[in-house]
Amino acid sequence: MNIAAQFRPARLGILLSGRGSNFLAIAAAIRAGRLKGVEIAVVISNVAEAGGIEAAQELGLPTAVFVSKGRKRAEHDADVIGCLRAHQVNLVCLAGYMRLLSPDFIAAFPQCILNIHPSLLPSFPGLDAQGQAFEYGVKIAGCTVHFVDEHLDHGTMILQRAIPVLDTDDAHALADRILIEEHQAYSEAIGRVVSGEYEVRGRRFVKRATV
Ligand code: GRF
Repeated sequence: MNIAAQFRPARLGILLSGRGSNFLAIAAAIRAGRLKGVEIAVVISNVAEAGGIEAAQELGLPTAVFVSKGRKRAEHDADVIGCLRAHQVNLVCLAGYMRLLSPDFIAAFPQCILNIHPSLLPSFPGLDAQGQAFEYGVKIAGCTVHFVDEHLDHGTMILQRAIPVLDTDDAHALADRILIEEHQAYSEAIGRVVSGEYEVRGRRFVKRATV
C-alpha cells in the first residue's frame, strides 16, 4: 500500500470523550506548520459535555456529537462512520476516546485508525495506565501511539516516548509528565504515518528501505 498517496491530503477525524488536550496539541502542530498536508476534517465526541468539542468549536472546526450511552455499539459506530465518511476522513485519530470500537468500525478504516495510550505498551493496557505503572513501581514510563486493531491497546506501534519515574513522583505528577510527551508524540506519529516513508512489516512500523 502506498501510504503517502493514500493520505494526500490527510484529512483527520478526531474522536474524543474528554478535555481533548491531545487534539489541541495536534491542532497546534498543524497551525505551526509542523504537519504539512494534514488538516482536521471533523472532531467527534461520544460525550455531549466533552471539553474538547467546545475547544474545537472555538477553533472553528466542524464538530459532531453522537452520545453513545445506552446505545448498541454497532448502531452508534454506524453513525460515527457515516459522519467520518461525510467529511472525507482518511485517518482517524482517537484522542482520549473512552469507547471500544466495533469490528465494523475497524474494518471501515483498515490500518487508518491511530490511538495514543499513556504507557509503554504492551505494559499496562486499559484504564488508568499511568496509575498502574506507578503502583507497579516501574522506573521508566511513557506513552505509545499505535494503530488500532480489534484488540485493546494492541495494534502495531508507531512511536513510543519514555520518561524516568522520579522518586518524588505521585501518580498524578507522573501522568502530567507523560501527557507532555503525549502532546509531542501524537503529532510526530501522524507525521510519520502520512509521510509515506514508513511501512508496516509484521508487527513493526519501520522506515522503508531507500533504493
Ligand atoms: C490521554 O492520557 C490519552 O493517552 C488517553 O486518554 C487521555 C486523554 O487526554 N488515551 P486528553 O483528552 O487528550 O487531554
